[in-house]
Amino acid sequence: MNLSIDFYWAVYGVASLLFFLGLKGLSSPRTAVRGNFFAMLGMALAVIFTLLHPSVENYTWIIAGLLCGAVVGTMVALKIKMTSMPELVAALHSFVGLSAVLVAFGAYFIHSWDGELTRILMAETGIGSFIGAITFTGSVIAFGKLRGLLSGNPVTFCGQHLLNLILALAMLGFSVDFILFDHLWSFVILTAIAFLLGVTLIIPIGGADMPVVVSMLNSYSGWAAVATGFTLNNPLLILTGAFVGSSGAILSYIMCKAMNRSFFSVILGGFGGEGEESVASSAARKGVKSASVEDLAFMLENSSKVIVVPGYGMAVAQAQYAVKDLYDCLTARGIEVKFAVHPVAGRMPGHMNVLLAESEIPYDSVAELEDINSEFPSTDVAFVIGANDVVNPAAKTDKSSPLYGMPILDAYKAKHVFISKRSMRAGYAGVENELFFYDNAALVFGDAKETCQALVAALGGSG
Ligand code: TAP
Repeated sequence: MNLSIDFYWAVYGVASLLFFLGLKGLSSPRTAVRGNFFAMLGMALAVIFTLLHPSVENYTWIIAGLLCGAVVGTMVALKIKMTSMPELVAALHSFVGLSAVLVAFGAYFIHSWDGELTRILMAETGIGSFIGAITFTGSVIAFGKLRGLLSGNPVTFCGQHLLNLILALAMLGFSVDFILFDHLWSFVILTAIAFLLGVTLIIPIGGADMPVVVSMLNSYSGWAAVATGFTLNNPLLILTGAFVGSSGAILSYIMCKAMNRSFFSVILGGFGGEGEESVASSAARKGVKSASVEDLAFMLENSSKVIVVPGYGMAVAQAQYAVKDLYDCLTARGIEVKFAVHPVAGRMPGHMNVLLAESEIPYDSVAELEDINSEFPSTDVAFVIGANDVVNPAAKTDKSSPLYGMPILDAYKAKHVFISKRSMRAGYAGVENELFFYDNAALVFGDAKETCQALVAALGGSG
C-alpha cells in the first residue's frame, strides 16, 4: 500500500500515545483493564502499519513467524499458571535479547553488502548486540532459577566481581575496535563476552532478590529494543523500547526500596542464600502453636477489626474467592476487614492486588504496607493467608537472615495472629519464620482455600 511517510509518522504517534495511556492505566487496578486495551490497540496499529510499510517486500517469512508465534503464544497463555508468570516473563525477555543480537548481525551483513555501513550504524549494532546478549543469557539463567531447574542459591566464587569487571572492560574494548576498524571478529567476540557476562552477572543473585532481577532484565530488554529500533530506523520501536526500559528501571528501583536493598548490592549479587544458620537455629526451637478452624472462627467472630495478609500461598490455593466469601461473612457481622498487601508478596509485582481485584474485594479495603502497618497494634486478629517472608520479623531482628532489612508487614503486632499454611516449610527465601514462635501466633494447617471455605461454613455463611 502506498501511504505517505507523514501518514506513518502520524500512526506511530497515535500508537505511542496508546502505549503511554496503557502504561498509565496499568498503574492502578481500577484502570488496568482499560490500560491493557489501549496497549493492545497500540500494538495492533504498530504491527499492521509496519507490515504495510513499502520497505516490506516479502510476507512469506513474516506470516510464517506470526503463525508460529501466535500458536505457541496462545498455547502458553492458556496453560500458564499465575504463579509461574515471573519465569514466563524471564523467558520472554530472553527472546527480546536474542532477537536484538540477530537483528544487529543481520543489519551489519546487509549494510556491509550494500556498502552503506557507517560508524553510527556499527555503534548501534554493537550496542544492540551486547545489550541483547546480556539480556538473553541473563534471562535464561533467571528462568532456570525461577523454574527450579537451577539452584536458587547464589553461586559465588573468589574474584567474581573482578572477573565481571574484566569481562565488561574487554567487551567495551572490542566494541571500540569494531566501531573504529570494522573487524567482524571483534563484533563476534564482544557478543560472545556479553553472552558470558549475562551468566556471570545473574548466577550470584540469590532467590530472595529474583524479583529485582526480573524487573531489571525487563529494563534491559527495553534498551535492547531501543538499540534495535535505531538499527532498523524505526522510531516507534525506539520509543516503545524506551518506555519498557525506563518503566523496568523504575520498577527495579521500587522493588529495591520495598526490599530495602541498594540496587548495586543486588546487581553485584550475594543475597538470598545465606539463611542456613538462621534455619538451623530456629529449627531447634520448640513451641509452635496450632489452632483449629473452629478456634479461628471464634476469634474472628469476636473481633471488631481484622487484617488479612495475603501471600503466595493464596495464589497457589486459588483461595481468593473463598477469601471474598470470608470477607462478606465478616463484614456482614459489622467487623472491619482490611487487606494488607506487601509490595513483593506473591511472585510478581501486583500479584495480590490482581487476585483480590479478581474476586471483587473492594479496592478501598486493600492497603499498602506503609499505610497499614500502623494499624496492626489496634487489630484483634491478623489472618495471614499463605504469606511467609513478608511477615517474618527476622527481617528486623536477625542480621544473618537474607531477609534482613526488608520492610515487613507488622502482623506480629496484632493482638492475635493466625497463619494459614500447609506445613512448617519455609517461604521463598528459604528461611524459618520467627513469627510462628511468637506467643500471640498460631498456625492453622491446611490448604488456604479449604481453610477459608471451612471458616465461612463455621461462621454460618455470609448471611
Ligand atoms: P512466601 O514467603 O513464598 O511463602 C508462601 C507460603 O505459602 C509458604 O510458606 C507456603 O507454606 C504457603 N503455601 C503454599 N501453598 C499453600 C496453600 N495451598 N495453602 C496455604 N498455604 C500455602 O510468600 P510471600 O510471603 O508472599 O513472599 C513472597 C516471596 O517471594 C518473597 O520472598 C519475595 O521476595 C519473593 N518473590 C517475589 C516476587 C514478586 S515480584 N512479588 C517475585 C519472585 C519472588 P506451605 O508450603 O507450608 O503451605
